[in-house]
Amino acid sequence: MRDRILDTLANEGILLEPEAAEMVLSRSDPLNFVRTALSSMQQQPLVLTVNDLRPYADVQVTRMVPEALEDIRQSAPAPPARSDGDVRILRDITGNSTCEGNIIDFARYFNDRFRKIKKILAQRRELVGCLPVSKATKFDREVKMVAMVNEVRTTKNGHRLIEVEDDEGRCPVLILKDSPMANECIVPDEVIGIVGKTSTKGDLVVMNELIRPDLPLRKSMRPTDSWSSVAFLSDVHIGSNTFLHKPWERMINWLRTEGRDEVQYLIVPGDVVDGIGIFPGQEDELEIDDIFAQYESLADHLKQVPDGIRIIVQPGNHDAVRPAEPQPTFPKDLTKMFDSAITFVGNPCYLEIEGRKILSYHGRSLDDWIGNVQGLSYNNPLQAMVEMLKRRHMAPIYGGKTPLAPEKEDFLVIDEVPDIFVSGHVHGAGISEYRGVRLICASTWQSQTAFQRMHNFNPVPAQMPITHLGTGETRMVDFT
Ligand SMILES: [Fe+2]
Repeated sequence: MRDRILDTLANEGILLEPEAAEMVLSRSDPLNFVRTALSSMQQQPLVLTVNDLRPYADVQVTRMVPEALEDIRQSAPAPPARSDGDVRILRDITGNSTCEGNIIDFARYFNDRFRKIKKILAQRRELVGCLPVSKATKFDREVKMVAMVNEVRTTKNGHRLIEVEDDEGRCPVLILKDSPMANECIVPDEVIGIVGKTSTKGDLVVMNELIRPDLPLRKSMRPTDSWSSVAFLSDVHIGSNTFLHKPWERMINWLRTEGRDEVQYLIVPGDVVDGIGIFPGQEDELEIDDIFAQYESLADHLKQVPDGIRIIVQPGNHDAVRPAEPQPTFPKDLTKMFDSAITFVGNPCYLEIEGRKILSYHGRSLDDWIGNVQGLSYNNPLQAMVEMLKRRHMAPIYGGKTPLAPEKEDFLVIDEVPDIFVSGHVHGAGISEYRGVRLICASTWQSQTAFQRMHNFNPVPAQMPITHLGTGETRMVDFT
């Protein structure tokens, strides 16, 4: 692919210095990027340098590369589920990572996202008969299409102009400032359904209706005959000098006494240790400054959990696995420190326990949701989780704070509706429900850090949400 791109450019008489070639090849549509840049330059240089190209590097580029599609239209076969006792790991990236981060990978990744979410949208009555984006402006009547959002901006008259694309083309879509959708937050790289009308000039589509994939309407969780409960402990941060030893002891003591018959499963959704070198100055806030010693200490802490409770551990952004999501599970040299009552999974992960489908996601993208969507805040992460469900994607925004690995399959699409959706990361605690899905924000076992104090953020530590798998009823036990 790399050589093909450079050859094509050379045939067109375009030569690149090595650094500029790297820059071009890192774009999702390299050919288009160079051609667009050249057509905007007053004088065409003999050899293109990074400095020549830099002014054009911020221009939005296409996500899905049409010429690369022939071999990638077929998505990867779903990886097989695996079982550990009563816990079935339906899907995570562990053992299935294929990406090298090249252009084909990116095209395939965005194409898989588009295809999966389009499949959900195509079932919507409002979108029956939807057209490819390239045909949308060719008709003088109502148009319907499914597309990925490339760019959103506000025009000088206060309307919003969105550039959308599918695997065949692009099209500008206008949301008039007095339309009911004017305040809808549309984030880059989300997949939406559009019902609209072609403008009189035929150069854009005016949006009349925005269709989100969303969840089917469901009042509440359908009861099952399970008598088990699952407890959640996120963001334990072992190794930090703000780890809450006393509340942890109280929680363990509770599990051994009052809670003895109540909890059968324990899910730990990431940031299980504080890690090393995660943020500047972290060394001053560590109680244990060796990564292996942190995991050893975690193994000791989890040994205190009474026998008979199955523990599921997932990585987060502080853990010793690759930071790019989806994150595979912990390497063998760490997992061998733990006893066999522990199941290690990747992030995110679809699990099934006693017939209940649980989607566990550490929640790194909550930073991007809160930073991009008006009305969302760190005080209400559950609302951000609702936004994920509405868009059927945990982390659509590419190039934000959440590093995304372009895997063959987009593991961050919420293609299956879970019964329980749990996240951590923001160190808040809460329980909610959206269209029959139980939402859980699973607290932390770390008190306020210097960084959080500086940002005026108050965590809600030492809370343990517990969900009954039969009824879905959830309560919060306070160990402060
Ligand atoms: Fe955390």
